[in-house]
Amino acid sequence: MSDSTTHLYAQNGDPAFPKIVLPGIPNLAQIDVYESNGGYGALKKAVGMQPEAVTDEVKRSGLRGRGGAAFPTGLKWTFMPKGNEKPKYLAVNADESEPGSFKDRQILEFNPHQLIEGILIASYAMGVKTAYIYIRGEYYKWFRILETAIAEAYAHGFVGENILGSNYSVNVYVHRGAGAYICGEESGLMESIEGKRGYPRVKPPFPAQNGLWGNPTTINNVETIANVPAIIWNGAEWFAKIGAQKHPGTLLFGVSGHVNKPGVFELPSGTLLTDIIYNYAGGVPGNKKIKMVIPGGSSMPPLRGDQLEGVRMDAESLKVVGSAIGTGGVIVMDEDTELTNVLLRIARFYWHESCGQCTPCREGTGWMKKILQRMSDGEGKPEDLDLLVRVANNIEGNTICALGDAAAWPVKFTIQRFRKELEEEIMRQAKSAA
Ligand SMILES: Cc1cc2nc3c(=O)[nH]c(=O)nc-3n(C[C@H](O)[C@H](O)[C@H](O)COP(=O)(O)O)c2cc1C
Repeated sequence: MSDSTTHLYAQNGDPAFPKIVLPGIPNLAQIDVYESNGGYGALKKAVGMQPEAVTDEVKRSGLRGRGGAAFPTGLKWTFMPKGNEKPKYLAVNADESEPGSFKDRQILEFNPHQLIEGILIASYAMGVKTAYIYIRGEYYKWFRILETAIAEAYAHGFVGENILGSNYSVNVYVHRGAGAYICGEESGLMESIEGKRGYPRVKPPFPAQNGLWGNPTTINNVETIANVPAIIWNGAEWFAKIGAQKHPGTLLFGVSGHVNKPGVFELPSGTLLTDIIYNYAGGVPGNKKIKMVIPGGSSMPPLRGDQLEGVRMDAESLKVVGSAIGTGGVIVMDEDTELTNVLLRIARFYWHESCGQCTPCREGTGWMKKILQRMSDGEGKPEDLDLLVRVANNIEGNTICALGDAAAWPVKFTIQRFRKELEEEIMRQAKSAA
């Protein structure tokens, strides 16, 4: 095992630039390479601790979920009942279907063993004996990588019966979805694993009480779980010091749209958005101005390009400026972007992906798409913006799952923040169609 300064869980040891989940070590997806860099060391440490102490370490680290809602991970684990009256499950969410989100697949491709190690530690902490990784159907290449990595982990005695000579056993399975965004919603995901249509469930009861097959279940995102080995290895205090105090650690920022170097960048939470766009993603082609940025995947409220100065990328800072961290997927749009087309594209996605279970979402997403299509065809009127807001308001908060909000927010907040630009576009499109 390498020493702590080069250990893969804290590559280069510099708290300003830690690479926790993507340490960039060549061939790390191979178990021998992973182990020779210290991999599975945290699992060995964890099984020597009391399960409650493992959960407590994660709780004290301040780790928050990376799947969209930034919910405190350790706290979520404590919702799982103690005792073994019923089987308990962990479902790792690798559905990654939100437009603008493509960060989890980097972990699946370049560091799958750290995810598996995290799953084993989390399972140990919660008394889980069966863990699933739910992966979107289109991620076939990544499914194969995971299958290989899991087979290696079984062969090395990390997964299966009595792991590392302990009396703790856990099996890990990969479950492929069929390519539906709704199956990323945690209860839709569980329905899908159970072999049913991915219809979200009414909550409460929450998954920790009534999850897979009616049993206690925890659902966590890939990036969330991949952070766990580093926390156990280095301790909660180490992790808590990285990045923003209330949302610590690194985040994977997937940057797309009008930037010179789109990609995934692992940076401390709280990094300036302008730093991410201009320094890491290479700025905007042709040095154009930015019109709009969606900071956390397509469902999050957008920010105006002229209000990006000083915006920090963590859950609390983004709340202050009226948006949210979501999946950390930063979508950059330059000054020439037609916002009506952007909204139409987004609305079409949510209309297509609505499961149809709740009337406001099923009907409302269709109406938003129709109105935006009309604008794009040059038949829109400025009053249509008010109509869109009314439809969005009728969806928001009125559905079983948050897909309704995800569909309503981009429309509602883009209109709120770009009304003048949208009115001008509608008039321009109407003129050119005349
Ligand atoms: C429509 C919809 C789609 C979602 N898709 C994903 C997804 O692809 N991956 C993910 O981790 N979370 C997704 N979520 C959030 C999950 O429901 C859940 O909160 C998350 O997986 C919990 O993990 P975390 O606590 O580690 O963030 C989605 C939520 C909604 C409403």
